[in-house]
Amino acid sequence: MLKITGVQKTFNPGTINEKKALCGIDLTLNEGDFVTVIGGNGAGKSTMLNMIAGVYPVDCGSIVIDGKDVTKLPEYKRAKFIGRVFQDPMTGTAATMQIEENLALAKRRGQRRGIDLLTVVPGGRFVRQPALGEQLLSSR
Ligand SMILES: Nc1ncnc2c1ncn2[C@@H]1O[C@H](COP(=O)(O)OP(=O)(O)O)[C@@H](O)[C@H]1O
Ligand SMILES: [Mg+2]
Repeated sequence: MLKITGVQKTFNPGTINEKKALCGIDLTLNEGDFVTVIGGNGAGKSTMLNMIAGVYPVDCGSIVIDGKDVTKLPEYKRAKFIGRVFQDPMTGTAATMQIEENLALAKRRGQRRGIDLLTVVPGGRFVRQPALGEQLLSSR
């Protein structure tokens, strides 16, 4: 389900503020596994989660989710494969939306978004037309 191999991350390399946060992390999790990561302040727990979510690129190593190598995918593309709940409830939620609306957004993770144009075809059925953005792209 999740396989991390040889992941390394150094912040501010080559500067006086250089910090080796992850020095070769290997982790394999299977479906149903429940894992607690423990470590002192600054041990690298958040950095590891940020690497999995794609907040920063890894220096080396690989991250595979459900057999798909996501190492090079940006965070917004990885959202299709992985979700996270933040320590700070103000992060990762839309403060102006109701709880139910936030949950509805989460349920649609990874699904297509945007405005669809529908046309009625004989028989009274609606058929989806490419969204405006798609039309503009395909007409180039
Ligand atoms: N964006 C960043 N820039 C520079 N250093 C960072 C950054 N994020 C974390 N660090 C450093 O990396 C180390 C690991 O931090 P972190 O992963 O936040 O630890 P933990 O979550 O285990 O407390 C710490 O020394 C921290 O100061
Ligand atoms: Mg932390």
